[in-house]
Amino acid sequence: MAPAYTHEEIAPRELKPALFELDGISRETIEAHYKLYQGYVNKRNEILGKLADADPAAANQVYSDFRSLKVDLSFAVGGIKNHEIYFEHLGGSGGEPTGLFADLVKRDFGSAADWKTDLKATGLAGRGWAWTAYDWDEGRLFNYLGDAQNTYPVWNATALVALDVYEHAYFVDFGTDRAGYIDAFFHNLDYDVVNDWARRYGVRP
Ligand SMILES: [Fe+2]
Repeated sequence: MAPAYTHEEIAPRELKPALFELDGISRETIEAHYKLYQGYVNKRNEILGKLADADPAAANQVYSDFRSLKVDLSFAVGGIKNHEIYFEHLGGSGGEPTGLFADLVKRDFGSAADWKTDLKATGLAGRGWAWTAYDWDEGRLFNYLGDAQNTYPVWNATALVALDVYEHAYFVDFGTDRAGYIDAFFHNLDYDVVNDWARRYGVRP
């Protein structure tokens, strides 16, 4: 049988020091994210190990087990990807979008204020995440809503901003004031990082 689930184990990325000096978002909160993130990395490695030992041809006989592994894998991998974006693009000085991303936001939302308003509303409406993604089929940015680590990513769209709105992202610092947390998120965004990604992915204004 071909090794359908050959994989390499991955390790959690280290957090950059700037994440512990955010404006309004505490070290305690960042550590809560990181603990979960480490859990997703471990889970991903563990599930791929189990799948390597599983026999897909016999999957119909152990349907529920196979299903659990596949669903849990999407949750773990989603949790890794979402948090790696989140960690990487925080630690900046916020303000207004700059460069290529500013051009895209102006073109696709009308203004930076309108983009922020829509992303904030999406974050308030979502149960897990809100993403500003470049949708390659639409040829534009769109703010997509996520209810969990594995819902609802859209194919052929690339997240450039990932706003975590799980309770662990705000409750310690803001209580139930999720809107206040989202404002703090914007204050700590590093648009240089977002622009680096947009350029690397080949997004064109
Ligand atoms: Fe998180």
